[in-house]
Amino acid sequence: MLPKDPNGCPYLQLAPMEGVGDACFRKAMASIGGFDEAVRDFLRVPMHAHVESLSRVYQADELGSIPLAAQIMGSHTEHMAAMAQQLVKRGAPRIDVNCGCPSNTVTGKGAGSSLLKDPSFLYEVAKAVVQAVSIPVTVKMRSGYEDISLFKENLLAAQESGVRYITLHPRTKVDGYGPPARWDLIAEAKALLKIPVVGNGDILTVQNALEVLRITRCDALMIGRGSIINPFLFHQIRAHFAGRTFVPRVEDLLSYLGLYVKSMASDATAKIRVGKLKQLLGFIFKGSEQLLAVRQQILASALGTPEELLDFATPYLLSNSVQRK
Ligand SMILES: Cc1cc2nc3c(=O)[nH]c(=O)nc-3n(C[C@H](O)[C@H](O)[C@H](O)COP(=O)(O)O)c2cc1C
Repeated sequence: MLPKDPNGCPYLQLAPMEGVGDACFRKAMASIGGFDEAVRDFLRVPMHAHVESLSRVYQADELGSIPLAAQIMGSHTEHMAAMAQQLVKRGAPRIDVNCGCPSNTVTGKGAGSSLLKDPSFLYEVAKAVVQAVSIPVTVKMRSGYEDISLFKENLLAAQESGVRYITLHPRTKVDGYGPPARWDLIAEAKALLKIPVVGNGDILTVQNALEVLRITRCDALMIGRGSIINPFLFHQIRAHFAGRTFVPRVEDLLSYLGLYVKSMASDATAKIRVGKLKQLLGFIFKGSEQLLAVRQQILASALGTPEELLDFATPYLLSNSVQRK
């Protein structure tokens, strides 16, 4: 389920990231590759859900041969189960239950990280999904809601529900993205549970990845923002295990960005597409000291189309070796 590669590199997953990590990003990332699986950002399952139509945005073959797990977020057990069944019909290889989203709109409806307030309810929701489908079901969770007082109970409740593994982003809902991810809690989860644990949170470099593996002994790694800043990170981690150093080529970065621009929905306005590209470039320019110096210039530029913006950014990217941390 979470196999290592022939060189001992753990299973690598691209994290779900609503908004910035949309289909355009995932497709561009798939063109670079290096990861084993991606997880789609959450599909909300509201109280009065028309699961058939809601499930249609999920495309199992979006990334070609790279599996794309579907993630569902809600608190109504029957609708969650029905949504999971729809997603199976659409070819989902795995269903992940979101127990981490910190957004107040979501938690106000008892979903996402709200499930962490009540381990027995988390159990009910996860179990309803497990029982509804025959494909693997997993849970992605934070370490708690306000604090970590129910951390162990939540882990055990998830395990008891029959999920295949747990992905842990070791921050509470209240933490948001503020304090550093507590990798020691991934180690605690690993020591407590019989099912595998996927470690996630603040993996920005190969060194970070090795450190998480060393501290936690987790079974796989999930990377989100680190892959936006450095889309080659998965390859660099994999290369490390093969005893090599992966040196990214600027041409690959440019074709990644070109594909991103091409994939942006043609029905979005040019202004929105420029905004999206700025957001992505903002992350990439953060990843290199040389590029950081001109980041503001790129973000402040007033270009009308994403193609123009990419042309404007290209000389900066070419004059930089894309030497990533
Ligand atoms: C913009 C953004 C959107 C996110 N959307 C989701 C989501 O849809 N589902 C989910 O489980 N986690 C979501 N997350 C959390 C990430 O998957 C991940 O757990 C978190 O960012 C920590 O990992 P990282 O430090 O590698 O980014 C999101 C994170 C960000 C920054």
